[in-house]
Amino acid sequence: MEKLIVNGGRALHGAVRISGGKNSSLAIITAACLAADVSVLENVPQCRDVLTLKAILEALGARIELDRGRMAIDARALASHAAPYDLCRQMRASFYAAGLLLGRGGRAEIPLPGGCVIGSRPVDFHLRGFAALGAMVEIEHGYMKASARQLVGTTFFVPRSSVGTTINLMLAASMASGTTVLDNAAREPEVVDTAVFLNLMGARIKGAGTNSITIEGADALHGASYAIIPDRLEAGTYLLAAAATGGNVLVEQMIPEHISALLAKLEEAGAIVERGTDGVRVRAGGVHRGVHVDTAPYPGFATDLHPPFVALMSRADGQSRIRETVFESRFGYVDELRRMGADVHVEGDSAIVNGVPYLTGAPVEAVDIRAGATIIIAALSARGTSEIAGVDNVDRGYEQLDGKLSALGADVRRVEVRGESVPQPVA
Ligand code: EPZ
Repeated sequence: MEKLIVNGGRALHGAVRISGGKNSSLAIITAACLAADVSVLENVPQCRDVLTLKAILEALGARIELDRGRMAIDARALASHAAPYDLCRQMRASFYAAGLLLGRGGRAEIPLPGGCVIGSRPVDFHLRGFAALGAMVEIEHGYMKASARQLVGTTFFVPRSSVGTTINLMLAASMASGTTVLDNAAREPEVVDTAVFLNLMGARIKGAGTNSITIEGADALHGASYAIIPDRLEAGTYLLAAAATGGNVLVEQMIPEHISALLAKLEEAGAIVERGTDGVRVRAGGVHRGVHVDTAPYPGFATDLHPPFVALMSRADGQSRIRETVFESRFGYVDELRRMGADVHVEGDSAIVNGVPYLTGAPVEAVDIRAGATIIIAALSARGTSEIAGVDNVDRGYEQLDGKLSALGADVRRVEVRGESVPQPVA
């Protein structure tokens, strides 16, 4: 087991380059397998969820190589219709294999997915969408089994503007006969990125980035080359870490408008934000003010940035209320922050944060990807040493988080822990 040891109290300074989007990559790597052909992707982050997806697609027959952000995907031999349980249960995006296999071969057997513990996270919208496309769908022994001789275009209202449902149905509908219209579609940048890539493969998708996406089905798609957009959630994480530590950091190689809602809230809290064309500099503005936030689908304040934002607010002047509207229980980080001295509690759908003058380092655990980022930000700004367990969860979504933070001046070490023995440095 690995842990991160963070000695807090150092302001972050310098510049950090953002990796390719994790959530975009998961959709686009899967999309590449719709064609019995070769695709090449650039800017693919080497994080654990990407490696898990790679293993799932390899188990289905694809051949995939990842080398320093460049991924070559050869899906010519992809022949299986059944995805492996042990890999799929590790992450929710494994369910994109359903849209892929239904689209490509008309048959999919996929374990119901796992992923972050942030609410019940069912896949009922996905299943309804596949059924609307004409697939026979049933749940049996923990698996979704779906089949269709030919998927047929349809009009489908995407409940709650679900990102995953929108992407999964775009994958399947790209290979359906006729036209599919997705109403109330998600508008997230990752949806747009996936549509752009699918169009490069020969799909005919219009309206991605709006609430209504039209997909003209194609008989076959071909391989394509593409560079994944930067990870807006990673960018937001470093901006929040810079502000929380009283630092001054330029976050480079990102798309500022992808996190405008966060930038506005940082400014409201008193941080100094300078927007460039492909970078944002944030400077802490002394003690920040408490602010209220409601998470919302894009372009609103991203639910994934709610927990790290609470880490910043935990030392702000006054009270903040962060209302979570996307997931029902994204508050797993609250108990961990309280161990560090934060005054935060949950009331209904909101985290109520009363800012305290300082946090103190403590043994804490990263219970999911963004909860991990949250306690790391808190640990960086705290007095003393924090020992962070559950690093696996952080590695699911962040490429080299500890390396990038060290380069910004953080005192963070990754150590191997065996049982209850004393931590040993990892080479
Ligand atoms: C994607 O999850 C992201 N994951 C999440 O990021 C992100 O938090 C979320 O979108 C919202 O932006 C990936 O892209 C891999 P949804 P997804 O379908 O697609 C409910 C991270 O840390 N719902 O938009 O699973 C659902 O429970 C991760 O990087 C159903 O009820 O989210 C939620 O309340 C965590 N039934 C709401 O809809 C369904 O069939 C929106 O979820 C599908 C969703």
